[in-house]
Amino acid sequence: MQSVTLQTHNGVAVVVVNNPPVNALSWHVRQGLQDSFSAALADEAIKAIVLRCDGTTFIAGADITEFGKPPQGPDFNSVLNMIEASAKPVVAAIHGTALGGGLETALVCHYRIAVPSAKLGVPEVKLGLLPGAGGTQRLPRVVGIEAAATMCSLGEPVPAVKAEAMGLVDRLAGEESLAEDAAAYARELISAGPRPTRERPVTGDAAVIEQLKTANARKWKGFEAPYANLACIEAATRLPFEEGLKFERTEFLKLMGGSQSAAQRHMFFAERQAAKIDGLAKDLPLRNVKKVGVIGAGTMGGGISMNFLAKGIPVTIVEMVQENLDRGVGVIRKNYETSAAKGRFTTEQVEGMMGILTPSLSLDDLADCDLIIEAVYESMDVKKDVFGKLDTICKPGAILASNTSYLNIDEIAASTSRPQDVIGMHFFSPANVMKLLEVVRGEKTADDVLATAMALGKKIGKVAVVAGVCHGFIGNRMLSTRQAPAMQLLLEGATPAQIDKVHTDFGMPMGPFQMSDLAGLDIGWHRDPSRIETIRDALCAAGRFGQKNRKGFYDYDEKRVGTPSEEALSIIEEFRATSNLPKREISDQEIVERTLYPMVNEGYKILEEGKAQRASDIDVVWIYGYGWPIYRGGPMFWGDLEGAGKIVEALERHGVKAADSLKAKA
Ligand code: 3HC
Repeated sequence: MQSVTLQTHNGVAVVVVNNPPVNALSWHVRQGLQDSFSAALADEAIKAIVLRCDGTTFIAGADITEFGKPPQGPDFNSVLNMIEASAKPVVAAIHGTALGGGLETALVCHYRIAVPSAKLGVPEVKLGLLPGAGGTQRLPRVVGIEAAATMCSLGEPVPAVKAEAMGLVDRLAGEESLAEDAAAYARELISAGPRPTRERPVTGDAAVIEQLKTANARKWKGFEAPYANLACIEAATRLPFEEGLKFERTEFLKLMGGSQSAAQRHMFFAERQAAKIDGLAKDLPLRNVKKVGVIGAGTMGGGISMNFLAKGIPVTIVEMVQENLDRGVGVIRKNYETSAAKGRFTTEQVEGMMGILTPSLSLDDLADCDLIIEAVYESMDVKKDVFGKLDTICKPGAILASNTSYLNIDEIAASTSRPQDVIGMHFFSPANVMKLLEVVRGEKTADDVLATAMALGKKIGKVAVVAGVCHGFIGNRMLSTRQAPAMQLLLEGATPAQIDKVHTDFGMPMGPFQMSDLAGLDIGWHRDPSRIETIRDALCAAGRFGQKNRKGFYDYDEKRVGTPSEEALSIIEEFRATSNLPKREISDQEIVERTLYPMVNEGYKILEEGKAQRASDIDVVWIYGYGWPIYRGGPMFWGDLEGAGKIVEALERHGVKAADSLKAKA
């Protein structure tokens, strides 16, 4: 496999990597680099060397697909050491992205030239790793401790122009003339000779390391990699280069062998895989969506609209009553202005987005929209009525989408004469922030409608996942399997705080009862205080509706910070007394077995029924829609780590029927 070539022009050797799609450092690239550099170094006629890449990008990192497999080809660090030790000056010519192992390769080159649009970074932390080929030791020697600590622990790439100011890039090239500019630069450098990084001192203030830990304490809760990255930077400040490399190696191998990185690497591919629709041609022509209609200007409709406005797609938003329309539009403006105050948008951008929003009181104004998303009250009758009207109003070929979170898309589609154009587009609240989009494929949904909805999801910055029609689709269907046992555990003696803590210690942003309080306990309540059949009825009867009136399973202060509530606990005690259940100690392990294992079990049932395309899609749903900790890789990945046998045994011990496919795996 020839993915690296060597060309020579007037005493300058040009080593070119060509390994689509992202020029990752696969074994044959490492081999090619070794061979090409050996040849260039041995050739006396060659006075300087340029390393550049074909295609859309410089080397975007190690080949992640090789991780965890038996090593093949030359060791990456030996290749890098050989380049760094070159007695002839080596120039890296960078376009696209120089990421991870790619930037580490550029760092062993003695000089770096980049086009202004290039980006340079070490995103390994996002894969639960650290730059494991000298990056944590060379970067602080080039950009100083502050910048290196920030880049390694947060993983955000820096634009080339900024990189030049930081000293990471030595010269900017013309956007269209990188190859020529790099060759000319190399020629200039022949007299200067090589400039290896390892001899340079580490400069800057190591206090930044603790500052980063404090500033990101919440974001990094439970994660190992950000801390390991900072430990390596800290090591660079006190250890000689070679010792620092050894320290980095040990930390890298620890992370690489651990479950967090395995989970995060799984998610890297899962997220990309989710975009692929089984059985559909990649080049299927899509429907053109230039204008979007949104029905409902409440929290959901407003949030959905914001996604399209932010991408410059005009939105017509429809409400039934002027006051509600005004309120909805006002909330959108306020949200944008808050973001502008934080520097995320300019005032002109806010006005630009508001300028393409058309408020309306009539569904007739949706006649020229290419996609209409309904976000009205969650009732089948109401939805059918809306879709029946849309059928008569909308132009042929328009996509009619429902944002329902539970209801049957096929039934909704049947209220139109064009079920092939009907689809579910389930956004998660707040819809302008949450990354997940469940795209629900109805029985009759046309392939191009599905493909268009998925592509549009990507365009507006969502991670879109295909789901089949079933109650609650993928996410909410699994969510409901943890709510019921959580309630039952209260009856048996656990407290809301104990159950929630097990979930937050696990890494979830909140537990089942904190979530119920946030959603509102009175949602779906029959509103008869004398009819008390569940703990929820008892709490509502006592006027405890959740965060909205500052009392639910917890008491809330004016900042909505919850504390365990004596009143709620005694209501639960009272209710338990009526059910004659004995109170007992519940272990944290039992809470895991009874609230998390059933979710895994439901995931298997969803796959058996074909309601999700693949297990990793379910993981994507839970990571991006519900805040499942990415370092645990989603419920299906986590279920595999726990072990199917252990889960089946526990489910059956607690009287839950295990899915056939889970049993088969066990
Ligand atoms: N290894 C293997 N495959 C990779 C890859 C990598 N490092 N990076 C991307 N790919 C694959 C993707 O899986 C995808 O495959 P598919 O088409 O079959 O789904 C394809 O390349 C295109 O990727 P994207 O869809 O992400 O393309 P974009 O153009 O949107 O983004 C990118 C390009 C910015 C380079 C993005 O792919 C990216 O961020 N890649 C990962 C970069 C990274 O994390 N590098 C560090 C790796 S770890 C490392 O280097 C360890 C070292 O320190 C020792």
